[in-house]
Amino acid sequence: MKHEKWEQLRVVDHPLTKHKLSIMRDTQTGPKEFRELLYELTLLLAYEATYCLKTHEVQIETPICRMVGEKIEDKDVAIVPILRAGLGMFEGVLTLLPNASVGYIGLYRDAVTHLPIEYYCKIPVVREKDVFILDPMLATGQSAARAVDMIKRAGGTGERIFFLSIISAPEGIEELISKHPDVNIFTAALDERLNENDYIVPGLGDAGDRLYKTP
Ligand code: URA
Repeated sequence: MKHEKWEQLRVVDHPLTKHKLSIMRDTQTGPKEFRELLYELTLLLAYEATYCLKTHEVQIETPICRMVGEKIEDKDVAIVPILRAGLGMFEGVLTLLPNASVGYIGLYRDAVTHLPIEYYCKIPVVREKDVFILDPMLATGQSAARAVDMIKRAGGTGERIFFLSIISAPEGIEELISKHPDVNIFTAALDERLNENDYIVPGLGDAGDRLYKTP
């Protein structure tokens, strides 16, 4: 079901996503379990986000008879994690779509301005493809909007761009939708707000640090 305020947003608040996310948020959860949960949550988000993928008919033979089945052309999908925390999600999507192409976008947040600075960009062919951009935290939305700019510059089309995040802040959703109203956003939780350091409240802290145990 679409969100009542933003039609581009889908909050995947399944009992399993709520359960796994509550463990991830907990400060007591260490990096190994955090990585495993991020992978599992991404599987659940990707399951929902891939609902719109087109299938084509294929002739198959079961042990009983011939029939017409349906398959996805997963070669027509591109997965683009935003470094570094997005790396914790791409394995989840790739498990479901093993023939997808993978690219990487490197953005870091300037310590003073909090604006995204681009430091790496390797985008596969995205024209005519469904593109899944991955970042666990949709906070200010600046990096997300920049990543979508980069995908569109490479030939991606908005309606076929999916932004998957585990936790989103309302400010980030507003920012991304204001810059790219054609993008589809899937998240496991819509939190309250950003704090003065642009961290999501209540959030889970710094996703990259929790994944890779950097202080
Ligand atoms: N990035 C994070 O890792 N956490 C936040 O709360 C916001 C941005």
